[in-house]
Amino acid sequence: MRSRALRTSRVLMAPRVELYTAYELSPLQQKVREANQKGTYGPVPKRCVVTGGLGFVGQRLVESLVERGAEQVVSFDIVPPPANVWKHEAIKYITGDLCDLEAVVEATKGADCVWHNAAAVGPFLPKHFYKNVNVIGTRNVLDACKKNGVRKMVFSATPSSRFTCTDDVDGQTEAQMPDIPQERYVAEYSATKAEGELELRKACKAGEILFVAVAPHTVYGPRDNLFLPNLLEAAGVGKLRIFGSGTSRVGYTHVDNYCHGLIIAEKQLYENGPHLGKFYVCTDGATHPHPEGYSVFWEELDQAVVGMGFDSLYSKMAVPFFLLRIIAFICDAIGAVTGKKLKLGWFTLRMLTMHRWFRITAAQNDLGYQPVVSYREGWPDTIEWFRNKWLPTFDPKTASGATGGVAQQTQDKVKIQNDRMMK
Ligand SMILES: NC(=O)c1ccc[n+]([C@@H]2O[C@H](COP(=O)([O-])OP(=O)(O)OC[C@H]3O[C@@H](n4cnc5c(N)ncnc54)[C@H](O)[C@@H]3O)[C@@H](O)[C@H]2O)c1
Repeated sequence: MRSRALRTSRVLMAPRVELYTAYELSPLQQKVREANQKGTYGPVPKRCVVTGGLGFVGQRLVESLVERGAEQVVSFDIVPPPANVWKHEAIKYITGDLCDLEAVVEATKGADCVWHNAAAVGPFLPKHFYKNVNVIGTRNVLDACKKNGVRKMVFSATPSSRFTCTDDVDGQTEAQMPDIPQERYVAEYSATKAEGELELRKACKAGEILFVAVAPHTVYGPRDNLFLPNLLEAAGVGKLRIFGSGTSRVGYTHVDNYCHGLIIAEKQLYENGPHLGKFYVCTDGATHPHPEGYSVFWEELDQAVVGMGFDSLYSKMAVPFFLLRIIAFICDAIGAVTGKKLKLGWFTLRMLTMHRWFRITAAQNDLGYQPVVSYREGWPDTIEWFRNKWLPTFDPKTASGATGGVAQQTQDKVKIQNDRMMK
């Protein structure tokens, strides 16, 4: 356990929202930047638009496009740009809501390609966000592209739109996973992301747009505001335990790898291209500890937990699955009655106990995708970033536990979105 003295001496060094917006790349990301700037991965379109350009993925995507030579990148986000974002002459920050069609039309004017990446992401948002952002927002981006004559769109998709409530994904390819629409989804997030993707697929089939969907899985890396902060907060207050048998196999995607996949997918967007409308998953692939393409989730998480100086998860008793199932049921019921988001609902439980890894053969064959960052380097580099940047802001007094409210970092962002979203 971290010593009491260390805990009490910790001060909040930086406002939390700004923690994940500074253009301060980790040592590994600096190497990627160099390769990007050298032209290692080829040219990118001149005029790019990234929706959700201030999110975890979107921000690195904007940066990567500029590093690879884009002349203008519009970063469209409902969150205004904090003072510490990268101020580069090629980046134009536009603050607007996807639900506001006029604002989206304005932002996408003259674009060569739109990366539609903004979304209501994860299980912790108020219910109305999902339909508004992921369906109506996506429809608006499509309409804006049609109106402006923008032909190309790369869509940030999620594999969870293909998960069923009962089956594991244990090394399937995209073709082996169930296609959308599904009868039931694991969460509102997955259902609405699928609905948005289906609208784009339909428009692509009708020749209205050239589109491809690219998904990551469990994106990690510096500036993550969802995955690691939520688990580390719970671990930091001593409330995280290994769930069930602790053997779930998971594929991860370093944020720079996902951005690479999204960027190179644009090259497949041409009239009658064979890959139009398809869905791809990009992960760290063979660079995982298990070269088939996965890590054992709890083993990797424990490295991050121990890396923060917290007690190893293996020093505590695991919680049996049946008990977790009851707790998740209660949390979901409380959430439904009170509207409060509790961390351990059915979605989170399912995500932390099922196998979720994919063979990325289609992305490799069709897009020419290979990770630009290896998991072996990416995971320690991320842990180091969290130790240097996140840990000094972690305050056990305000941190959320394992089943309770969501991480401060996530809450801060939700609040900004909620205040600004068109009602
Ligand atoms: N992070 C992951 O593990 C993961 C996994 C699968 C898929 N994805 C997909 O990747 C994309 C990016 O995810 P992320 O992890 O960067 O999430 P994020 O929450 O960090 O970023 C999403 C961004 O969209 C913006 N946004 C939300 N509502 C908006 C609105 N109404 N108008 C304009 N902007 C709005 C948010 O402010 C935020 O900056 C999403 O489409 C998500 O579905 C992410």
